[in-house]
Amino acid sequence: MNDKYKIIGPLYDFLAMIFSAGQIDKCKTAMHGYIKPDDKVLFAGVGQGIDAIGAAELGAEVTVVDLSESMLNILDKRTRGRYFTHPIRRVHQDILKFDEYHQYDVVYANFFLNVFEKNMVTKVLEHLSKLAKKGGHVVVGDFSLPSGGPVSKLFQNIYWYIADIIFVVMAKNAFHPVYDYQTQMKQLGLEITDVKYLQFLFDDRYYSIRAQKG
Ligand SMILES: C[S@@+](CC[C@H](N)C(=O)[O-])C[C@H]1O[C@@H](n2cnc3c(N)ncnc32)[C@H](O)[C@@H]1O
Repeated sequence: MNDKYKIIGPLYDFLAMIFSAGQIDKCKTAMHGYIKPDDKVLFAGVGQGIDAIGAAELGAEVTVVDLSESMLNILDKRTRGRYFTHPIRRVHQDILKFDEYHQYDVVYANFFLNVFEKNMVTKVLEHLSKLAKKGGHVVVGDFSLPSGGPVSKLFQNIYWYIADIIFVVMAKNAFHPVYDYQTQMKQLGLEITDVKYLQFLFDDRYYSIRAQKG
């Protein structure tokens, strides 16, 4: 499997920390207050996995899926020697080939959907929604849609494009404007039940959207 995160992967969480003064990490765990022990929780495109580790610490039965072996190896290193009620299950696979449908209480897509071209985002979101149980939830954490006045929006767009261009070059991610995940989730029949915003440099920069599957 082609590992597009081989070079940038080991630096990913460090860069995110610097770029957002820690707000990206907070965004990834913003909805963890809803996790209950023994919940089945899936992290799609998990990366280094601080969010997955946080869920395992809360007693959830965590499965992580990622295409990048180097990202998964970092997650392994971070959890080596640690005890969780349910050991984290690691799956090295394309999420679109992962077909454990209707199994998960919560499916997370943290800073994951933004790697795809626009036409793929709906397809991937729909797939993630199928992996959740009836009544289960999908959580999307990502850059929030630019809002406020024109100057504010311009600054938010510049901020996004700096990150996007780095990942277009380093990991062949798609080049695109900030996606409107809330609208896409609603169009797929998911009901938005909570949205938490994270601020940086005087504006909303990131949000975590929790939506329920009917
Ligand atoms: C931008 S990183 C985000 C990582 C992590 N969720 C975080 O917030 O730090 C995107 C991750 O998605 C993984 N990825 C990209 N396409 C994938 C796919 N089709 N299936 C599974 N993982 C994928 C990449 O290997 C990478 O680890």
